[in-house]
Amino acid sequence: MECFSSESCAFVVLLLSFLCFYKLWMMKRKKEDERLKKNGEEFIVPKGNWGWPLIGETLEFIACGYTSKPVTFMEKRKSLYGDVFRTHILGKAVIVSTDPDVNKMILQNHGGAFIPCYPKSITELLGKSSILQMNGPLHKRVHSLIGVFLKSPQFKARITRDIENVIRLALSAWNGSNQVYVQDETKKITFEILVQVLLSIGPGEEMKLLKREFEEFIKGLICLPIKLPGTRLYKSLKAKKRLLEMVSKIIEERKKAMEKTEEKGLPDDAIDVLLRDVGESDEMQQHRLPPDFISGNIIEMMIPGEETVPTAMTLAVKFLIDNPIALAHLVEENVELKKKKDQSGEEYSWSDYMSLPFTQNVISETLRLANIINAVWRKALKDVKIKGYLIPKGWCVLASLSSVHMDETNYENPYEFDPWRWKNISNAASSNTFTPFGGGQRLCPGLELSRLEISIFLHHLVTTYRWAAEKDEIIYFPTVRMKRKLPITIMPLHQ
Ligand code: HEM
Repeated sequence: MECFSSESCAFVVLLLSFLCFYKLWMMKRKKEDERLKKNGEEFIVPKGNWGWPLIGETLEFIACGYTSKPVTFMEKRKSLYGDVFRTHILGKAVIVSTDPDVNKMILQNHGGAFIPCYPKSITELLGKSSILQMNGPLHKRVHSLIGVFLKSPQFKARITRDIENVIRLALSAWNGSNQVYVQDETKKITFEILVQVLLSIGPGEEMKLLKREFEEFIKGLICLPIKLPGTRLYKSLKAKKRLLEMVSKIIEERKKAMEKTEEKGLPDDAIDVLLRDVGESDEMQQHRLPPDFISGNIIEMMIPGEETVPTAMTLAVKFLIDNPIALAHLVEENVELKKKKDQSGEEYSWSDYMSLPFTQNVISETLRLANIINAVWRKALKDVKIKGYLIPKGWCVLASLSSVHMDETNYENPYEFDPWRWKNISNAASSNTFTPFGGGQRLCPGLELSRLEISIFLHHLVTTYRWAAEKDEIIYFPTVRMKRKLPITIMPLHQ
């Protein structure tokens, strides 16, 4: 008599395989735990849970990401194991820090103990000599060149006018349309500014092509790391090749022009900055950056700038919609500046926008609450001892910026949009508890530029239009955005 059907046999085999696999996984983890216990005599390896075989705690991490409070994942573990804990997410054993001091030390990276650590699809797309992946003296050189350029007074004066022009034009194009999607509109605006800053491409066919290819390229940043024809990663790599060709052409033309003329003046954009630099060597031994290195980096520098600024603009509008008192204050401050400028006939300057106190507080509060870059990922190159913890060599570390921003020991009622709280925080820029732009060696070079763009956008928006918003909600995973792209019905203030 046949006791089992083929289905039940298959089931039993599957179950036994799973149990074997589970047992092996637990043994491996136990061994790892024992190794860590031995290592951590004075400094302890953070406590935590490895979760399920292979997937670890990834499902809960993603599930929390889809809620309105993604830091719940961190908060739950923090209450069980402490401010720094270990887990297993997205295929990696990770030490998560929710402690501002530990985050600071990870970001500052004295002694070069940490390097950036991205998922495989991202590292494939970036290339080894990308500013986002590089380390050591070359990283320092490129970071400082871009930072110094973006901070120079001449650049600030020129970019203020350029941003104003782009925003004024974009806002006047809204006139006549009843409804606009803030998320789409701000993306158009900020892309135009970004490509102007990096490679001086103005509106037109070339920019449209660049945008199309760039969008195709970044679709592969979060995907399966398989490089076969037809896969997402393959298509993105092809788009990057086309982008590199476009940018290389511009660099070649620039180089030729540079060779013809001695007169240098202010660099027009990031390409000029990187092309002109001769390194720290003497005149006889110049170490210019190779053209393919420059073209790669120009494209890669677009990645952190492309989505972050429009998201911050969109979320600022969303938070102001939900807080009419804050909106009224912001309108009052900006209308006053506009009146002053209209009466004097003077142009707006960089410092006019950057010294609007309430508007800057709205921007800080938006950046804190939105957590656009919620964490930075690093890998330890050696055993690192921080604040009583041991981070073993080879492990990934996630410095959770959002956990610090949403912790009530750092911010009272952290889930409330409260721009007034910044009145009492004297120096937000140097604080351990406010790091939307990261910190240390990799502090975002686009920090002031981003604040300026958001400030100019808010100023011209509230002095040109009033609006009524439709219902929409913020989504936090995999990136922060509005579910319906934030549709608003606009009413011009002056016909
Ligand atoms: C609201 C807007 C922005 C936010 C929240 C933001 C946030 C960040 C953060 C957190 C980092 C550090 C990443 C790490 O440590 O691994 C970073 C790095 C960077 N950002 Fe931004 N960013 C913004 C806008 C921009 C813009 C407009 C640009 C381009 C001009 C830009 C260019 C860069 C670059 C090139 C890096 C890499 C720096 C390095 O590794 O040396 N960012 N950004």
